[in-house]
Amino acid sequence: MISDTLEKRLGDIEDLPTLPLVLQQLQKVIQNERTSMAQIAAVVAKDQALASRAIRLVNSAWYGRTTRITSIQQVLVTLGLSTLNTLMLGLTVIKLFDNSRTLGFNARSFWEHSFGTALLAKKLALQGGKGCDAEECFVAGLLHDMGRLVMEQHLHEEYVAASQLMQKNRQTLLSAEKSIFGFSHSETGAWLGKRWNIPRKLILAMELHHSQLFPPDLTHEEKEVVKIVSAANSLCLEGGIGTSGEICNSTETVHPHNGFSTETCIRLVGEAKKEITATLQEWNTL
Ligand SMILES: [Fe+2]
Ligand SMILES: [Fe+2]
Repeated sequence: MISDTLEKRLGDIEDLPTLPLVLQQLQKVIQNERTSMAQIAAVVAKDQALASRAIRLVNSAWYGRTTRITSIQQVLVTLGLSTLNTLMLGLTVIKLFDNSRTLGFNARSFWEHSFGTALLAKKLALQGGKGCDAEECFVAGLLHDMGRLVMEQHLHEEYVAASQLMQKNRQTLLSAEKSIFGFSHSETGAWLGKRWNIPRKLILAMELHHSQLFPPDLTHEEKEVVKIVSAANSLCLEGGIGTSGEICNSTETVHPHNGFSTETCIRLVGEAKKEITATLQEWNTL
């Protein structure tokens, strides 16, 4: 339930992050089962720059394909619309983070936390994500703290106050945000995701990544995506990848998560730490 306060505080801000027009249109056609491949390809072709970045991503080491793809139609036929949408959203979000660097926000550590969560979410999905799409988990991880970016940038002074309150009372970031604003970064992210009209699983990952309880209407797959993102988020905190905004305990150790043993979690955190810089570069140069 989106609070009135959140709508009042953020609803009128004009320079909130937006999706490019092509992605806005894609979110609409994706929901219409009768849309043809040709129509979708035509929508995507309207933004040649994003379309060619998506093609480069699909051909990059990141995606690990052996056959070369040269057109959006081919991406659609071989990977499907939902994957194309996920990848294009990922590319767009990365640009949004990039732009945030100019706003004096401590982007680097936020970036590393978001990217680390994305990488770990993909790894957890590949290890046994019970039917979850690994690329979707990656983008869900990338997006999960988007609400923090919005609050840090647009409600800056109060956000600093929330952070100080958290330190002073040794409480969670979420409860400090709630006492200062009446809403949290989880709700803010979900609110933005709804405005963007992006797939529900991605919105739920933003909304519920700090929750212990899930609403009863969640599908099995939705729950799994949320659980994976939540575990990846905790692993970043425990493994010291970027900063999540929470109080960091220097003696933090990696715990078992989501049915994976401590050993597996330690290995995945180690892999993510090694890959983070190279992957960041790879995505940024696309
Ligand atoms: Fe969070
Ligand atoms: Fe997080």
